[in-house]
Amino acid sequence: MKALSAKTVLWSLWATAVIGLSVWLSWPLIFEEQQDIFLAGAATHGHHQIELACNACHTSPFGGKEVLQSACIACHGAELKAVSDSHPTKKFTDPRNADRIERLDARYCIACHAEHQLERTRPMGVTLPEDFCFECHEDVGRERPSHAGIGFETCASAGCHNFHDNLALYEDFLLKHSSDPWLLETQRILERPSQREDLAERVEPDAPDSVVADEAPTADWQHSAHAAAGVNCSDCHGSEQQWQPKPLQSVCAGCHERQFEGFTAGKHGMRLAQGLSPMVVDQARIAMKPEAGHRELTCNSCHSAHAYDRQVAAVDSCQSCHDSEHSRNYAQSAHAGLETPVTCATCHMPRQESPDGGFHVQHNQSDNLRPNEKMIRSVCLDCHGLGFAIDALADQALIDRNFTGRPALHVESIDMAVDRAKAAPTLDNSYQ
Ligand code: HEC
Ligand code: HEC
Ligand code: HEC
Ligand code: HEC
Ligand code: HEC
Ligand code: HEC
Ligand code: HEC
Ligand code: HEC
Ligand code: HEC
Ligand code: HEC
Repeated sequence: MKALSAKTVLWSLWATAVIGLSVWLSWPLIFEEQQDIFLAGAATHGHHQIELACNACHTSPFGGKEVLQSACIACHGAELKAVSDSHPTKKFTDPRNADRIERLDARYCIACHAEHQLERTRPMGVTLPEDFCFECHEDVGRERPSHAGIGFETCASAGCHNFHDNLALYEDFLLKHSSDPWLLETQRILERPSQREDLAERVEPDAPDSVVADEAPTADWQHSAHAAAGVNCSDCHGSEQQWQPKPLQSVCAGCHERQFEGFTAGKHGMRLAQGLSPMVVDQARIAMKPEAGHRELTCNSCHSAHAYDRQVAAVDSCQSCHDSEHSRNYAQSAHAGLETPVTCATCHMPRQESPDGGFHVQHNQSDNLRPNEKMIRSVCLDCHGLGFAIDALADQALIDRNFTGRPALHVESIDMAVDRAKAAPTLDNSYQ
């Protein structure tokens, strides 16, 4: 009873807050300092940074799960659609599947992804037991001889199936890549053309004289792609009269919309998307260098303000904050020693072809992170075969060593697909 009344108090407090528009607008600020009192329970790994922006998910205090559903879809709908979600909501609103939703109402995201219940949350915000596939697929063992006797807790373990994104794991794809070697002969490396060569014409800096006198920024800028493209001091700092000493990421966003969009959709910039202050390293839940604790995440966490150094952006900057075993072990990996190294950014910020030709760097580090099979198509297949990549990504110890050495386990999905394809013609013949 005590817990219930606490909840009621919470809800009425909140409803009152919502009624006053001004309170509504400053909601995250008001509660920033009172986390313990107001939080219904700590938020999941994916959402902890915005847990105090209650209205990001509870967009209205009324409407219950329908309201939450639209919030989930507003932020995640496009990404699930882009990967051809294998279990889209429309599969479950189909009356033919009515018997299934009686067992597990998969029409709602929160049937599987509850919030504020950290103690029962598994990776990727899943709040169901590992064998939940059983609720709808209990007959799979009977229908597929290859699956007889396989436990339901293993369906979704690394490398076999995912609930949403199976782009690198569906049967035809497995077959198509069944004879890939571990390392492809021709590797696809999207090189960024250097802009520095066409720096023949120098642009005069347009900053106030007193500022230009600070020689380092001017000299760095003069060798940058910005100077080459005619982006002058005032484009970032404002005019001489209204000189801003520290331009914010909103200035960068004006010219680099796509990078800003990626940045604010992932773990580095997601707080900014909610109008909150930038993420600070001390607030992280994962291993970070203690000396970086005070640092904020902005565009300039990885790019220095006036010079642009690829090694800094793609490796050194990351390691100045991140401190997990995986990050620390990168330096000794085979990838780091290659002539054109596979950097942290090669895997976590892959270059993607832009709709308008050319390419851009994906600035959302979470975009291909989990389930990690997402990295297969966006990264590994540029250089490795499918089977090798599936095995490598299923091996957590190898990930922790940052891919130093060969995979110690083997996922059998390709073998199973090949066996079934071999058996299929015989089956077809029997109908003749
Ligand atoms: C990232 C999305 C998200 C954010 C941010 C969020 N919530 Fe929730 N909240 C949910 C979801 C999803 C549920 C439903 C969980 C369920 O039904 O199991 C929920 C349920 C609740 C409940 C009901 C708890 C229960 O056990 O039934 C309360 C109270 C609540 N939230 C309060 C808050 C408050 C206060 C904040 C801000 C401090 C907040 N929430 C921030 C997603 C969120
Ligand atoms: C305001 C936008 C927003 C809303 C609303 C929102 N999310 Fe998220 N969610 C994010 C961001 C940003 C991340 C972190 C980056 C990522 O993993 O893509 C995330 C992460 C996740 C993850 C991955 C967690 C992980 O550990 O990898 C899941 C699952 C998820 N959200 C489900 C939901 C569900 C279900 C709802 C509705 C209850 C919801 N989200 C509401 C923005 C949102
Ligand atoms: C029947 C259970 C179930 C339902 C319903 C469900 N999910 Fe998931 N979700 C999972 C599981 C399991 C994972 C772990 C990764 C996987 O297997 O695809 C996951 C992973 C995710 C992820 C992180 C990984 C990724 O592929 O991006 C997001 C984001 C996500 N779900 C959002 C949603 C949203 C939004 C909804 C509602 C439209 C939803 N989920 C409905 C079970 C579910
Ligand atoms: C709430 C019910 C439900 C749950 C839970 C569920 N599925 Fe499904 N699944 C379906 C439905 C409906 C289909 C459509 C085909 C059918 O009717 O079997 C489907 C299809 C599939 C397919 C065929 C994919 C395709 O593109 O045709 C696979 C593989 C699959 N599910 C795996 C899983 C795995 C793995 C899990 C657990 C992580 C899971 N399912 C959990 C309902 C469910
Ligand atoms: C692409 C945007 C951009 C351009 C162009 C630019 N700046 Fe900056 N500048 C910044 C940012 C961002 C900071 C703040 C860095 C920080 O927060 O530490 C900054 C900081 C400075 C500082 C403070 C000291 C320092 O080094 O951080 C000076 C002085 C400065 N800029 C001068 C200039 C001059 C002179 C020019 C033209 C020659 C110029 N800037 C062009 C973005 C720019
Ligand atoms: C007035 C427009 C404008 C503003 C403001 C601006 N940029 Fe740029 N930026 C450009 C152009 C043009 C280029 C060169 C073409 C390209 O790479 O897109 C460029 C290139 C870059 C590059 C690639 C450098 C290289 O050598 O390849 C980075 C990184 C970058 N900008 C970051 C920033 C950051 C961070 C900010 C904010 C502090 C910022 N930009 C502000 C227009 C701008
Ligand atoms: C986590 C580190 C990180 C942050 C934060 C970051 N970048 Fe980048 N950025 C990179 C890396 C790494 C590259 C690619 C380096 C390479 O290999 O050339 C890059 C490349 C770029 C490029 C040139 C390539 C392209 O996409 O066209 C631009 C422009 C750029 N960043 C702008 C921005 C802006 C604007 C922001 C803030 C919204 C930002 N970056 C924040 C790491 C970062
Ligand atoms: C200024 C410090 C800083 C820099 C620089 C930085 N990061 Fe991060 N990174 C963070 C913080 C803080 C988080 C969020 C952690 C959390 O929410 O618990 C994060 C999150 C991540 C995540 C998601 C982790 C997860 O478990 O969901 C990845 C992946 C990541 N960063 C990779 C990189 C890469 C690659 C680079 C360099 C290109 C980089 N980071 C540069 C501080 C930084
Ligand atoms: C060859 C590809 C690859 C390279 C290179 C790589 N990573 Fe990762 N990284 C991964 C994979 C795969 C995962 C695991 C995702 C999962 O399953 O949770 C991961 C996980 C992470 C995470 C989240 C878990 C953790 O360890 O905190 C961070 C942060 C991260 N990487 C940062 C980095 C940094 C920093 C570098 C460079 C020093 C780097 N990565 C180099 C592929 C790579
Ligand atoms: C740009 C090309 C490229 C990309 C992208 C790439 N790799 Fe590699 N990888 C290589 C090359 C080349 C080697 C061989 C290095 C050697 O033997 O000297 C290698 C070696 C490896 C090794 C064996 C290391 C050892 O110590 O024997 C593993 C494991 C591995 N890669 C996993 C991955 C995974 C997983 C991905 C995707 C997340 C990935 N790689 C992405 C080029 C790449």
